[in-house]
Amino acid sequence: MQTKKVNICIKKALHCLDYDMEHINVIGRKELKGNIDISGSKNSALPILASSILSDKPQTFTNIPNLVDINSMIALLKSLGVAYKIIEKAYVLNASSISSVEAKYNLVSKMRASFLVLGPLLSREGRAKVSLPGGCAIGTRPVDLHIYAMKRLGAEIDIKDGYILAKSPKKGLIGNSINFSNISVGATENALMAAFYAKGETVIKNAAKEPEIIDLCESLIGMGAKISGVGTSNIFIQGVTGSSSNNHKVIADRIEACTYMIVAAITKSNLTIENINPKFIKQFLKVMKDMGVIYKILNNRIEIFKGGGLKPIKIDTEEYPGFPTDMQAQLLTMACLSDGVSEIRENIFENRFMHVPELNRLGADIKIDGNKAIVQGNRSLVGAEVMATDLRASVSLVLAGLVAKGRTKINRIYHLDRGYDKIEGKLKNCGALIERGYD
Ligand code: EPZ
Repeated sequence: MQTKKVNICIKKALHCLDYDMEHINVIGRKELKGNIDISGSKNSALPILASSILSDKPQTFTNIPNLVDINSMIALLKSLGVAYKIIEKAYVLNASSISSVEAKYNLVSKMRASFLVLGPLLSREGRAKVSLPGGCAIGTRPVDLHIYAMKRLGAEIDIKDGYILAKSPKKGLIGNSINFSNISVGATENALMAAFYAKGETVIKNAAKEPEIIDLCESLIGMGAKISGVGTSNIFIQGVTGSSSNNHKVIADRIEACTYMIVAAITKSNLTIENINPKFIKQFLKVMKDMGVIYKILNNRIEIFKGGGLKPIKIDTEEYPGFPTDMQAQLLTMACLSDGVSEIRENIFENRFMHVPELNRLGADIKIDGNKAIVQGNRSLVGAEVMATDLRASVSLVLAGLVAKGRTKINRIYHLDRGYDKIEGKLKNCGALIERGYD
């Protein structure tokens, strides 16, 4: 018995070590060339997969990216009794019967988006026990707006032992106005899914307007929801009493696409980004143009040309359609290479500069003043060993490694695997010297 226990401990320790020791090596200063195919949007796929809880009929979703976070969401849905199979890359989810309404801490703490099962569970089953997600590297990440929305639809909410215990009225949730004091992507998504079966009309005011919200609305409408005002700040939902099977293709990942545009700009490479809807990244494209990036839009492809110098920039991150916070870290890396001083203010999260000390280890000169990063340009970065702290921070380090002199070793790249589908492969195909290591 003793030996068995020891073996389990060793296995677990090795697994953690393995987890921690996985890294990426990048040899910088290589010009790239070629095409990069953008995968499905992580931040669209996650709520859409969660919405499968709402229907007792099979739902088919395509263009789902191959990411750790997707696997975490699938594991959570399975624990609730949602059956799933993958048929020629299409995810077929079947929530004909929900066997549990409890989203456990070990799953929710790994991925905050797990909290998006609250709305659909409450709407379909009338009950939900969901672990509070807790904070993460970029901020405390409260869920007060989610709770407010559920209460507005008539739910009783208790918080006990780190769990949200939610119960709808006997006859189900009741449509109402939900007036968000601040814009929240996740709270808008939970409210939309909770309103699916809520009796009467629900109006969500000050709703988030991200393309991922539009995609969720279109997927819900395919499942039988009655929604108007899609893509605006005021969304109207008429509760329904049943649902239908649907086949929905998830939109492309705009943040992945913008990340690879910056790769082209900073490595002075001619790259073509395939599969992106330029209307979803208008503000980002304006910033690229202002910084001197030369590109051409051809329907859903963007070709970036080998450019000259980059100009510094002064921007604020904002809710959509403003400059996305999920591109702040990547822009910081780009600003290091521009010919001047840039100022980037982070207005969405309170602690989203964890990549700065790591970028400074590579020779950047970035100072933080409150929620503003002041970035000295004209830096020539030099490869070093660095550590990823969160998803977008990790990719900003890959970008820096692509332009640094010599080798950059990026540790804890499990952060990267949460949100970038086959990043080494996509970059290698364009000539980058990048590979994953385990030593
Ligand atoms: C979504 O997170 C995205 N995640 C994030 O992407 C993205 O950065 C964020 O929206 C903003 O665009 C997914 O879609 C899975 P919020 P979410 O609720 O929904 C505060 C990535 O890198 N707030 O819009 O959690 C919150 O603290 C990830 O792909 C409350 O105060 O973001 C933050 O300051 C990172 N109370 C602000 O609102 C609440 O109840 C925006 O958060 C909820 C949020």
